Amino acid sequence: MNSLFLNFWKERNSRPGYYGKATVAGITVNVHKGVYSPDPKCTHATTLLTNIVSDFTGKSVLDLGTGSGFLAIYAAKHGATRCTAVDIQTEAVENARENVANFDLSGVIEVFESDLFDEVTRKYDVILANLPIMDPEWTDLNQFANRVNQRFFDELDSKLEADGKAYISSTSWGDLPELKRMIVESGYQYKIHSEELPDAVWYVFELSRPNDRL
Ligand SMILES: C[S@@+](CC[C@H](N)C(=O)[O-])C[C@H]1O[C@@H](n2cnc3c(N)ncnc32)[C@H](O)[C@@H]1O
Repeated sequence: MNSLFLNFWKERNSRPGYYGKATVAGITVNVHKGVYSPDPKCTHATTLLTNIVSDFTGKSVLDLGTGSGFLAIYAAKHGATRCTAVDIQTEAVENARENVANFDLSGVIEVFESDLFDEVTRKYDVILANLPIMDPEWTDLNQFANRVNQRFFDELDSKLEADGKAYISSTSWGDLPELKRMIVESGYQYKIHSEELPDAVWYVFELSRPNDRL
């Protein structure tokens, strides 16, 4: 992992121009200072997710670690009938609520504070987990990527419908061997989607239960 670049990246994300407005897949959200931006200048994980999943017709969707609320809004605008957007960061929850209201989607998307699944009570057809990938970005919140991911996999079964799908993102700077180990150990099967950019290879793991676990 290139920590010099990561420090630069972290500092850059708190500069004017990197908060304010962000547009991905034709949807523009407001991003408050200190809230993670889905803008392609900051990350490719959000864009890659929108490139691989675009039909949420009739689905219930959980956006875990929603940040600005972008992915929940994207899912609702692509057919999801009910979305839940949660984040551990109070500012993100406020930011996501504002964006949801701006899109007049408060009847479809509920937003609340939750440490991963802690406050989530129901099951979902789709879970989008664009969570911390690299530790230096998240140590302030005490959210270390492998620990967060392990908790994600410990609880995934109880929050995903039997034929549901979950999507978790990573990059070539993330701990991919550990992520793969957790997926295999949790009994899920995965399909890898990836896109190579000059700064990194970006990954989304599409997770589902094997037929014998449905
Ligand atoms: C990489 S950002 C992605 C934000 C958003 N999903 C997007 O695509 O723009 C990760 C988000 O996860 C949140 N987060 C980190 N640890 C968390 C946890 N334990 N529970 C819930 N959210 C968490 C962070 O506050 C941040 O908003």
